[in-house]
Amino acid sequence: MARRSALAALIHEEHQQTLEFLNALEERVSGRGRRRPLAPDDRVLAEQLEAKIDAMIFRHFAIEETVVFPLVQDSLGGDAVLMLIREHEGVGSLASPLRAAAHAALCRPLTAQEWARFCETAEAFIDQETFHIQKEETLIVNRLPELLDHRDDAAAADCYIAIGGLPAMPRSPSDRPAVQARTR
Ligand SMILES: [Fe+2]
Ligand SMILES: [Fe+2]
Repeated sequence: MARRSALAALIHEEHQQTLEFLNALEERVSGRGRRRPLAPDDRVLAEQLEAKIDAMIFRHFAIEETVVFPLVQDSLGGDAVLMLIREHEGVGSLASPLRAAAHAALCRPLTAQEWARFCETAEAFIDQETFHIQKEETLIVNRLPELLDHRDDAAAADCYIAIGGLPAMPRSPSDRPAVQARTR
């Protein structure tokens, strides 16, 4: 039976929650949702955008760079880890203006120009973060059970939770839903 990794389960769970968040955001910036700029009526979505960008992007990236990447650096190679860190920087640079615009929308509707820029930025953010998650699932999450022994895995999972990640929700690899490839 395949060995399980508590650390992989934590990362995977956060990735799945992030993908759900990206799907909700995509609905709001495409099709009918795109016709109406974000406004104070969207308080729930705007507050979620702020909170989820903080938790699922910036905090998640910081935990990966602090706890996860150092553990897999030797196995993956420095270039692969550097590529993932560069992707964090790229996604982060798109997430910051989205977060700021969502905060502004709590007080007033975004102008047509602000909304057009928001939608454009959101699309790039969704695409880049989705591809980043797919890459990490392949390079790291799926391989962690073989890369870490039980003791290192448990210690890293404890550290991940202590820094602010999800509480432990271990899953077997067969329970994992596949990360959908984007078709756009
Ligand atoms: Fe990442
Ligand atoms: Fe990640």
